[in-house]
Amino acid sequence: MTKYLAGMFAAAFVATSAFAAGPETITLEAKPGNVTFPHKAHQANTKCATCHGAKPGKIEGFGKDKAHALCVECHKTQAKGPTKCAECHKKA
Ligand code: HEC
Ligand code: HEC
Ligand code: HEC
Repeated sequence: MTKYLAGMFAAAFVATSAFAAGPETITLEAKPGNVTFPHKAHQANTKCATCHGAKPGKIEGFGKDKAHALCVECHKTQAKGPTKCAECHKKA
């Protein structure tokens, strides 16, 4: 019985953490062209807190200013990832 409950708990935990990681790819809508953001690929190199603060999920007030400060600045600092407008903003 104890073993059975432990198994149930482990399964529930795995399911919860997979969901909590959020989508693999996120389309961020923007007038100059939508930005396709590889969320999962970024999770491999960057701590959740760098982008989300203490609570992963919707980022409050996320928009042009926050996005450019967060995304473009890191790409410039690391000299990796897109820094030119059209590399992020793609017209459909
Ligand atoms: C490089 C930045 C970055 C990193 C690192 C990152 N995320 Fe995100 N994440 C985002 C952005 C941007 C969104 C979309 C935010 C929005 O629409 O408010 C998002 C969305 C999410 C969502 C969906 C929110 C919703 O309800 O639509 C979850 C859940 C999430 N992230 C969890 C995580 C977890 C857990 C980690 C660490 C394992 C992580 N993220 C790492 C940038 C990041
Ligand atoms: C803490 C640093 C960091 C932050 C913050 C960050 N990125 Fe990146 N990003 C990278 C790095 C490093 C790469 C290059 C990965 C590689 O070449 O393997 C990258 C690559 C990319 C790519 C190209 C992926 C590809 O397949 O070529 C896109 C698009 C991108 N980032 C969008 C974003 C967006 C949008 C945000 C903000 C929501 C963001 N990034 C935030 C570090 C970051
Ligand atoms: C690293 C990727 C990246 C680069 C490079 C980038 N942007 Fe953005 N931009 C974004 C993201 C992400 C958003 C926010 C989308 C959202 O609100 O969810 C955004 C938002 C915007 C918005 C607001 C759009 C709206 O609908 O409100 C404008 C305008 C904009 N960018 C113009 C530019 C210009 C001009 C450049 C070049 C100087 C540029 N961006 C470079 C990722 C990028």
